[in-house]
Amino acid sequence: MNTLKPLFQLDPEITFLNHGSFGACPTAIFNELVQWQKKLENEPVRFITSELYPALDVSRKVLGEFVGCDRDDLVFFPNPSTAINTVAKSLRLNPGDEILSTDHEYGAMNRTWKFICQKTGANFVPVEIPIPVSSHEEFVDRFWSRVTERTRVIFISHLTSQTALIFPLEEICKRARKAGIFTIVDGAHAPGHILLDISSFDPDIYTGACHKWMCTPKGVSFLYARKSVQNLIDPLVVSWGWESDEPGKSRFLDYHQWQGTRDMSAFLTVPFAIQYLKELNWQTLTKKSHQMVVDFQNEICQMLNTPVICANPHMWQGQMCSILLPGSPDPMKIQSQLMDNHNIEIPVFSWKDRVILRVSVQPYNSEADLQKLKDILPSCLN
Ligand SMILES: Cc1ncc(COP(=O)(O)O)c(C=O)c1O
Repeated sequence: MNTLKPLFQLDPEITFLNHGSFGACPTAIFNELVQWQKKLENEPVRFITSELYPALDVSRKVLGEFVGCDRDDLVFFPNPSTAINTVAKSLRLNPGDEILSTDHEYGAMNRTWKFICQKTGANFVPVEIPIPVSSHEEFVDRFWSRVTERTRVIFISHLTSQTALIFPLEEICKRARKAGIFTIVDGAHAPGHILLDISSFDPDIYTGACHKWMCTPKGVSFLYARKSVQNLIDPLVVSWGWESDEPGKSRFLDYHQWQGTRDMSAFLTVPFAIQYLKELNWQTLTKKSHQMVVDFQNEICQMLNTPVICANPHMWQGQMCSILLPGSPDPMKIQSQLMDNHNIEIPVFSWKDRVILRVSVQPYNSEADLQKLKDILPSCLN
């Protein structure tokens, strides 16, 4: 077994190739969570009234340095859904306004926009991005050709969930800023997965999850908002920070940080998690994971006689790849066969008219994990 796997709390009997769905947290980072929870429960009043906010400040500082933004331009949220809902519900959209997006977005986010459109009369416009994807230029041209005078918002993933592709955000955000279009980037999969520098592409809004590829405990995500748009965003939950009696240094933090009594211990694990992974030399290890993904994808696509989903995996992919399975097999049947009969945890799902097997590789995975999948998959497809 890979020597890193015992550092995680994962069941050693299971070949875990699904880090992408909900991440996985090493024991040491999980213990850090418990330490914070114990501190909280040891003296709840002192902790919440005098220790919590300075600790959150440190955590935001360290996270800001990691993702490339000022600590006061980000606020912790439990997950990307609440972060995106906060922003989407704040937009003053009118009937006929357009939210330009792609057909690769995450289902829960599509539902969020459908809900918003039903309430406001705006239209969600998902641009078709055909696969295999080829060049960034072709992607941007196709996407941008659908901008109209009614386009108010661009909503786009940084790294897509179903197709596991890294989208070229730089050019899109640059053009959107020039055109005065509000940009919202869904970076749920990005932090800890790809080198992230939010300031380099300057979106209006960015959300990322830390409990996926940064390996924090569940319930750690963030909402970044460019300074110029922070005052547009209403709190999803109105609490003491709205019309605060004691305003802090930022209305953005006042509005969104305190949402009633809750356990924010998981947010405080971020500095430890970043340092822990650094000491394991994680960034170098993940380069190897990426190469394992690329090699595996080539081999399995050749074996199944199915096209690779992108022209240049080094440009379009990180530590996940989506394999387009041949024919139209029953995804639930394949997934449960892999899990129930062979202890392989991996997602298989329908996406548009295709069936996809999505492989995630983290440094705790070994070549043997991928070999096992390669050996077993053909029998599940028959
Ligand atoms: C691309 C993308 N966006 C948003 C989300 C939403 O995350 P959550 O359900 O944790 O809010 C996910 C979850 O996997 C995702 O993959």
